[in-house]
Amino acid sequence: MDYSDALPFLGSMDPTRFQNELTHFHHIIQTKAGPGRQGLGWLDFPVDYDRQESFELEEAAAKIRQESDVLLVIGIGGSFMGARAAIEMLTHSFNHDLPKEARKRGTPQIFFVGHHLDPTYMADLMDILQGKDFSINVISKSGGTLEPAIAFRMFRQLLEDKYGPQQAASRIYVTTDREIGTLKALAMQEGYKTFPIPRTIGGRYSVLTAVGLLPMAVSGIGIGEVLEGAATARSELKDPAIENNPAYQYAAIRNSLYRKGKTTELLVSYDPRLQSFAEWWKQLFGESEGKNLQGIFPVTALYTTDLHAIGQYIQQGRRMIFETTLKVEKPLRDLIITERVDDQDELNYLSGNTLGSVNDKAFQGTLRAHTEGGIPNLVIGIPKITPFSFGYLVYFFQLACVMSSYILGVNPFDQPGVEAYKNNMFRLLGKPE
Ligand code: PA5
Repeated sequence: MDYSDALPFLGSMDPTRFQNELTHFHHIIQTKAGPGRQGLGWLDFPVDYDRQESFELEEAAAKIRQESDVLLVIGIGGSFMGARAAIEMLTHSFNHDLPKEARKRGTPQIFFVGHHLDPTYMADLMDILQGKDFSINVISKSGGTLEPAIAFRMFRQLLEDKYGPQQAASRIYVTTDREIGTLKALAMQEGYKTFPIPRTIGGRYSVLTAVGLLPMAVSGIGIGEVLEGAATARSELKDPAIENNPAYQYAAIRNSLYRKGKTTELLVSYDPRLQSFAEWWKQLFGESEGKNLQGIFPVTALYTTDLHAIGQYIQQGRRMIFETTLKVEKPLRDLIITERVDDQDELNYLSGNTLGSVNDKAFQGTLRAHTEGGIPNLVIGIPKITPFSFGYLVYFFQLACVMSSYILGVNPFDQPGVEAYKNNMFRLLGKPE
């Protein structure tokens, strides 16, 4: 966590000024005494999780891998974003287009659905399923969210038409509350295999439960390693002293910048594998902090792509933004730029360089330009993209988010505002009371 390029913008609003609040809220978090405390189950989950359940999850994943060309993951918000983030971060960039045998452990193609209501997407997905064996993992903590419920109704029908109700039932995996909700009741009636989402872990904090772990396991990601990363973060981020706790540094510096009028945070990466992770981060912070007319507005960008789209605004537009870069120190693979005798494209000055090093220079050049242009910058270093670092980062951001929300004075675990659109939509749809 490097915030040296943010400090010059802070004047007297040095993040160490938050030490008393950090110490206070650290105690509140650890003793689960703050607003929404019943949502803190994820704090110890990476060490407390049920080993038997984890074994069953691996078994289910192996069965899905063995009998399916495609896994449909049905969910929205916290019930899909983390799984998508992990899979995009930790599998081949073109996984779907590799032949099955070239995919890690022969994993099926994984498609997400139920995260919006677009009929064309769903109809196109139905085309993709033609002639393919598939299974479904439907994920909904409440068990009643409209988008995934509609998708489940449609794709369950397709599955039953293809295999008959009994065989179809053995291809449906339900991740939901242990006891309550429409989906739980339906799963019990039909005898579907179910995985519980602990009552104490809300949607956007649930990626390290069966919500994210089952799709990850199906993709061949080592879920033990993911949980180990989170467990390591848990033990390393236990110190309330700002100088020893990068998650609290991040929480404090965000609030310092916010009080200096920097109301938008742009999370940037230079690696497309992190794009969905950034979207997960956006949901985590947006839904946790944006309430009571408070909150830093979270947005994401992929560089260098977006430097050719919003780079101009960042450099010279309105000064309410700060930038946080997720900087991967070492790419998973690298390529050398070769020499050409004709040098028609005038790129020989780069011959012998790796593409990774060029990406690195783009990062350094951008950091300098944006800082000089008046954008405070934070850099979060990721040594390498691995299942371990995924687990670590998830825990890091969840902890930072709760701390930052408490400093802002909001409850990080509820989302009362999301009901407004639902109420209008249900009224327009004529949903019975
Ligand atoms: O973070 C949250 O709580 C939300 O984003 C939920 O995950 C999302 O609304 C989906 O809810 P559910 O899992 O109940 O279908």
